[in-house]
Amino acid sequence: MTKPINVLFVCLGNICRSPSAQGVFEKVVADAGLCDQIQVDSCGTTGFHSGSSPDPRAVSAAARRNITIGGLRAREFDVGDLKSFDYVLAMDTQNLLFVKEAWHLAGGTQPELFLSYAAKNDVEEVPDPYYGGDQGFEKVLDLIDEASQGLLRHIRERHL
Ligand code: 4NP
Repeated sequence: MTKPINVLFVCLGNICRSPSAQGVFEKVVADAGLCDQIQVDSCGTTGFHSGSSPDPRAVSAAARRNITIGGLRAREFDVGDLKSFDYVLAMDTQNLLFVKEAWHLAGGTQPELFLSYAAKNDVEEVPDPYYGGDQGFEKVLDLIDEASQGLLRHIRERHL
């Protein structure tokens, strides 16, 4: 069997956006029957929340869409991730710049903005929902869902 494609989602704290992206994309991959061929993980550019479960608002919003992310635990980005992952996908420009700095020094996979895979290209960043209300978490999932479909299409065309 060929080596699986490894996808890493990156945000700031790894408790709101990137675990949501991990959960949504894992479901998209599972629904397509591709679990053995695509592996998914997430991390934060800070270690403030390392070891923590996702934010309860993110867990609830995902659960409303039949996606379970409560078992995930936050971890901090490591420069070695640029070697282990085939796709390193940042939620916003701030976090993209952070991982790109590591990439300039260490090489490996060139990080990209996750929403560059969305078919609708009017929004570039997944906005940080941490200091807002529940609506923000719904918006995050809508944007992630759209980009996940595009990412799967891209991986299928490119690799599978
Ligand atoms: P995330 O959201 O980057 O999507 O996980 C945040 C989580 C925590 C904080 C900021 C954003 N914080 O400031 O603690």
